[in-house]
Amino acid sequence: VKTGLTSRAVVAGVVLALVVGAAFVVLLSSIAGLRQSQLRLEASAQVLVDANRLERLIIDIESGQRGFAMTGEETFLQPWREATAAFPRQAAELERLVADDPGQLASARQITAAGESYIRDYSVPLVDTARRDPVAGRSARAAAEGKRLVDAMRADFDQLVTARQAAAAAQRRRSDAEARRASLAGAAGLAGSLLLIAVYTGYLTRTVAAPVRRVAAAARRIAAGDLTVRVASGGVGEVGVLERSFNAMAGTLARNRDELRASRERIVTAADQARRRIERDLHDGIQQRLVSLVLDLRGLQDAVPADQPELGERLDRLTGGLNEAVDELREVSRGIHPAILSDAGLTPALRALGRRSPVPVDLDLDVPGRLPEPVEVAAYYVVSEALANTAKHARATAATVAARARNGVLHLEVCDDGAGGAAAGGGSGLVGLTDRVEALGGTVAVISPAGRGTRLVVDLPLAGP
Ligand SMILES: Nc1ncnc2c1ncn2[C@@H]1O[C@H](COP(=O)(O)OP(=O)(O)O)[C@@H](O)[C@H]1O
Ligand SMILES: [Mg+2]
Repeated sequence: VKTGLTSRAVVAGVVLALVVGAAFVVLLSSIAGLRQSQLRLEASAQVLVDANRLERLIIDIESGQRGFAMTGEETFLQPWREATAAFPRQAAELERLVADDPGQLASARQITAAGESYIRDYSVPLVDTARRDPVAGRSARAAAEGKRLVDAMRADFDQLVTARQAAAAAQRRRSDAEARRASLAGAAGLAGSLLLIAVYTGYLTRTVAAPVRRVAAAARRIAAGDLTVRVASGGVGEVGVLERSFNAMAGTLARNRDELRASRERIVTAADQARRRIERDLHDGIQQRLVSLVLDLRGLQDAVPADQPELGERLDRLTGGLNEAVDELREVSRGIHPAILSDAGLTPALRALGRRSPVPVDLDLDVPGRLPEPVEVAAYYVVSEALANTAKHARATAATVAARARNGVLHLEVCDDGAGGAAAGGGSGLVGLTDRVEALGGTVAVISPAGRGTRLVVDLPLAGP
């Protein structure tokens, strides 16, 4: 089974949706990744701020306890107390911030432990000692111990900050790569979609629009009467069905037209033959018989005795009546079939028609020799009917008849200068004439504007239909 256009359109639509969808999935996941990176970078910055704050607390503790130890003034203990109270909170906050990185979490815990130990085991005892014994509090040994502890903590801070900064730099590199991937995916998705749409449009044009346009053009030619036209078949799916059905339809139309033409020709020929038989029977039978009766009567007239003159007169009237009957019979049989046409050909027959026409006729005849019999008969009836119409309907003062056989076509024109307004269908004459001419593959045109005369133009192919 050939795939139809509908299923092809569905497949194309699905492919397009998949390509666009895939591009969007990549794009969206890249955007989510970028957002994640952004959050991580912000968290890194926060860690650095926090670590810095924690370090400052240690410095506050250091300078507070040293100031008190040196001077014994309670004012130094105010920032010291605040800093020692704040340290555990701040340290817990830092641990929370680096919880996602085990290495950094270990550093943070170490800082917390070191700071708490510094406060508990060094700073608080030092302040107590200084309160009790100011000299011992000022000892260089205590100061050196404090500096060692603070330096150790500073090293821990530096390690944490360096690790954090390295992680942030790596994160930035990853997010740059992510951004590049996102732009690439977006561009590739866009280009792919555009390409697919272009390909699909081209495909539709080639498989649907172009063949339909060809079939439409062929249909126009058929409507104009050219039944030989066919379209190239082999189109896709339903379009192929359309093309093949169109060709089949054109073939059927042409066959029907040919059959119609053939049957019309048979009918016209049969009618002509019947008329000729009747004419011959009238001429050879009844007419000959009447003529010999007239001759017999003449002989009888001679034998009438001189003393019976009224018998002679009656025989005279009888002879006259019989002669009139012969003339009428001749006239009738000529209407049925013109003997002169079969005997002498078209030119003499048309001349006879011209002579008999009540409207004066100008003849222009150029028909050498004899033509096929059906053509001669048709031409004779065309001119006969046209001149009869001129006499009957036109109120014309003159008519012309032109006949010319050339290039395999007999061209006839009968014109008058009468009232015009002739149309086939108004009576039986022009319709019958059209039947006869078209049966032979010819054409009839009646040009008859009201008030401007009538022109009947007929073309008859000499070779037959
Ligand atoms: N030469 C003409 N001049 C004017 N009118 C004409 C002429 N020929 C035909 N007609 C008109 O066209 C009609 C159709 O003609 P036709 O088919 O020969 O029928 P009809 O049997 O009436 O002659 C006529 O009835 C007449 O009205
Ligand atoms: Mg007529």
